[in-house]
Amino acid sequence: MVERPRAGLSKVHMQIQTAPSTTPFSQLDAHGRLRHLVTLEGLEPDLIRELLDRAQAYLRRPGQASAHGNELDGWTVANLFSEPSTRTRSSFQLAATRLGADVVNLDLQLSSRTKGETMLDTIYTLQAMQVDVFVIRDAQAGVLQFVAEHVEPHVSVASAGEAHTSHPTQGLLDALTIHQYKGGFRDLVVSIVGDIKHSRVARSDFTVLSALGVGEVRLVGPKELMPPAGEFPGAKRIHSLDEGLDHADVVMMLRIQKERMEDAHIPDDAHYCAEWGLTAQRLKRARPEAIVMHPGPINRGVEIASEVADGPQSAIRMQVTNGVAVRMAVLASMAEARRGRAA
Ligand code: CP
Repeated sequence: MVERPRAGLSKVHMQIQTAPSTTPFSQLDAHGRLRHLVTLEGLEPDLIRELLDRAQAYLRRPGQASAHGNELDGWTVANLFSEPSTRTRSSFQLAATRLGADVVNLDLQLSSRTKGETMLDTIYTLQAMQVDVFVIRDAQAGVLQFVAEHVEPHVSVASAGEAHTSHPTQGLLDALTIHQYKGGFRDLVVSIVGDIKHSRVARSDFTVLSALGVGEVRLVGPKELMPPAGEFPGAKRIHSLDEGLDHADVVMMLRIQKERMEDAHIPDDAHYCAEWGLTAQRLKRARPEAIVMHPGPINRGVEIASEVADGPQSAIRMQVTNGVAVRMAVLASMAEARRGRAA
C-alpha cells in the first residue's frame, strides 16, 4: 500500500502559500510566446496585434455557423469564478468548446473553498484532473500571478478579471471592436466615462490603447470616481460630461461598481443619471460617426439610456461577439505556445 504523506504535503502547501516567488514573473515562455495572460501590461504591440488578427479570423457573419477548430483538442479548461459573470464566463466556455476542449465550470462560492480549502489546493486538485488552462476571476489583486507562479510548467492561467486592476481579454476585445469600426487608433479621441476609479476594464483598455498608439484618452467623471493621481499617465481628466464628449470618436460608458466601494460618496441613481447618464441628446456632442461602447452589464437609465444602448451608434453587442473570438485567440495562442515548447 502506498503511504500518503498527508502531513508533509500540507506543510509544503503552507510554505507555497506564504513564500513569495524569487524568480521574476513572466507571462511569456522562453521563446516570447504567450503562456499566461494575467495583464496586458508589458505585452509588445506586435503580440497584441497578432492576438487581434487571430481573433478577427475566428469571426463569422451573422447567420453563419460559428467558427470551430481543433486547436484545444484533448485539453481541459477550468473556469474558476469567485465573482459574478455573464459575458466573460460564457464566452470563455464557448471559446474553449468551439476549439475542442473539455470545460469544467467551478463557482468558487459553491466549491470546497467554503469548507476551508485554499485557492492553491483547489488549483492542485483540478490540476490532478489534468486541467490545462485555469481561467480565473477573483476579487483580490495578485491572485492570478500567484496561481500562475505555482502551476505546473505545461499549465496556463488566463485572467477573467482581477479586482479593480485588470481585465485583459476585455481590453483586447474592446481594441478589436474599435479597430473594426474605426480602422485604427492613431487619430482617435476615446472618452471613458463614469466610475474609472474602480474599473479594471478602464485600466486594461487604457493599457492596450496606449500600446496601440491611440491619439487621446479622456477620463470623464465625477472627482470621487477618478483614479489616484499617477495612474493613466497622459490621459486628460475632465469633470463635465458635455466637455468630455466633445468631438469624441469612441465613448466608453462604465457602470458604477458599487460592490468595490466601501464608502461611496456618489449621488443616487437618478441624480447620477441626470449629470452623467448618456442620452441621445448628449451624444450629439461627440462626432456624428462616434461609437458607444460598454463592457456590460449595463444599468439602463443610470449611466446609459436605452435609446443609446440600443441605438445605431451602439457597438455593445459587437463587443460581446468579439469577446468569444478574442478568448478563442488567447486560448489557441497558449496551445500553440505549448506545442512549440514540446517540439
Ligand atoms: N464585461 C464583463 O466582464 O462582463 P461580465 O461581468 O458579465 O463577465
